[in-house]
Amino acid sequence: MPTPKTASRSSSIRPSLPRLGAARWAIRRRGGLATVPAALAGVTAVAALLVTTAAHAGKPVGVPGALSLTVEIGPLRNTAPTTRTLVFDQAARKQVTWFDVQDGYEHNVRGLPLRDVISRAKPPKSADAVVFSYADGMEIPLRLDQKDEVDSIFVALEHGNVRDDFSTTYTLHNQTELPCPKILYGRKVTSFSIWIYPGALTSIRLVNWKTYETRLAQPTRRVPDSSGWPIYMRHCQSCHGIGGQGAKRGPDFLTDMGAYRRIPPLAVTDVSEHPSLHEKVKGFAEGQMPVLTQISNAEIATVWRWLHAIHNSATK
Ligand code: HEC
Repeated sequence: MPTPKTASRSSSIRPSLPRLGAARWAIRRRGGLATVPAALAGVTAVAALLVTTAAHAGKPVGVPGALSLTVEIGPLRNTAPTTRTLVFDQAARKQVTWFDVQDGYEHNVRGLPLRDVISRAKPPKSADAVVFSYADGMEIPLRLDQKDEVDSIFVALEHGNVRDDFSTTYTLHNQTELPCPKILYGRKVTSFSIWIYPGALTSIRLVNWKTYETRLAQPTRRVPDSSGWPIYMRHCQSCHGIGGQGAKRGPDFLTDMGAYRRIPPLAVTDVSEHPSLHEKVKGFAEGQMPVLTQISNAEIATVWRWLHAIHNSATK
């Protein structure tokens, strides 16, 4: 048996298995790989998968073959944060073919549409948005009134190959492997989509949008100028935090003063200088920033002015 890893942030939503079931599989596996007939080879592969999964198991749930998913609930208005662990036995996992914008291919997966996950989590009425967090610090919020977006998302608990061998490792077409649960965004997009960028999922949170946004905006509240906020929220917030709030994939625009000061006030810089906000956003600079062509120059200028305003007030 692999030694169980110490709890990581990500362990809470890894599909977990009852320990008993895992032990049973382990014994069967030890029964000797060499003697397993070819027809059972698939079973052996499954056994290996289940044992590995048990290394990340949360609490035993006592349903053989079940996979669990923990959904966090909160921040909400006037309600303390809580978690709901949903257990899906095999029959509860739907097998579907779902498009994934991350590699532009259809995938054979078992799991549930996001809408079903939400209805099973039975959140209070004030939960009107879902926030997906990722190991690399990304945070993607989605308001539940964006019906088409919500309906396009599938939560995969298992990924299958063409022969219907399922595992909890999701393999993208470029061979990148991500752990399940994996969020599949099923809309075909021709330009930028934030859903192309996520890595390993670490949590699914049901939140109250206003409470969540107010918390993010807290560090910028002192400044009367809020012109850049909607642009930041729309285009930058998934990767960049502000004043210690929110995402951590790119530098924090308020806490990381160094990162902010390096950005020159000019739109166009010399190659020897640090790239400007414009160059960063429009892809005229090296780095891991996506090219955000859908953002206008005027919007970038607004974000730049706004960042200056909040910095000036923060350093006063
Ligand atoms: C998909 C994730 C992602 C999004 C969305 C994103 N960024 Fe970034 N950004 C990064 C990462 C990662 C870095 C650090 C690596 C680098 O500099 O390329 C970065 C770096 C930067 C830097 C450079 C900071 C420095 O130290 O020089 C600036 C400026 C910047 N981003 C501005 C923006 C703005 C403005 C937006 C929104 C209009 C935005 N980013 C949206 C991921 C993102």
